[in-house]
Amino acid sequence: MRIGFNFTSAEGLPIAKRLLADNLIDYCEILIDNFLHLDPKDIRNHFDCPIAFHIMRSCFLESSDKYLSDIAERIKYHARELNPIYVSDHLAEFSINGRLLHFISEIDYRKRMVIFNKIARWQEMLECQLFLENYPSLLDGGYEAPHFFSEMRHKTGAGLLFDISNAVCAAHNCEYSSDLWIEEALSTSHYHIAGYGPAISDDNLFLDTHAEEISPLTMQFFLENRDIFTRDNATVTYERDRNLDYESIARDIVKIKSACDLNAEGSPQ
Ligand SMILES: [Fe+2]
Repeated sequence: MRIGFNFTSAEGLPIAKRLLADNLIDYCEILIDNFLHLDPKDIRNHFDCPIAFHIMRSCFLESSDKYLSDIAERIKYHARELNPIYVSDHLAEFSINGRLLHFISEIDYRKRMVIFNKIARWQEMLECQLFLENYPSLLDGGYEAPHFFSEMRHKTGAGLLFDISNAVCAAHNCEYSSDLWIEEALSTSHYHIAGYGPAISDDNLFLDTHAEEISPLTMQFFLENRDIFTRDNATVTYERDRNLDYESIARDIVKIKSACDLNAEGSPQ
């Protein structure tokens, strides 16, 4: 198992570099859209470690073929130089009737065939297996998400980027057991984990904030399913892009390592 850190903007560069220098992480997951204007060799110069790609704003369910093919060419150009561990994207709605949403919104899982076709098309353009992240569901439809991902994998060949804390949020918000995700968690080797917080409008709802330390509920789910998340080829990316406090981030990563029975150097105890 490898532990990584998500690198989303220049602000996080000192944190990512320090985590690497302190041997707390093994790779960086780069929010690749933010860096497509750079020469990939310059990215490589900053990161002497394996790299994974996380795409944020392809908006592939809504974008034109022309836009997607342009961005796919640039992602593939960077992939040839950086050889990412995986290429992942978000399965979400970014706009309604042409108006951009402030927060990305959950898809309607009932529109599965239309969505599967778009996933297959986007994956074909990227010329690699695409891993799509589960959403921290707010609505009742979130109950259908595990089944949707299972069908998606079989119909399109795309994989799941299983966000552990998003599954915990969804289970809490939609009032089901996060165990509904176990089979899907087993289907993949790529995981996210992060903190979440209550919504301002309703503190009974959990939102994926990437601003806090990992919650006890998430750690409990991680520990209960440690055998899944610590398999040899597993990657667990720790996400934090707000409250970028090094000590707090390092504390969380050490918490994950301890849960995996790994010492700070990443070797079995
Ligand atoms: Fe995530």
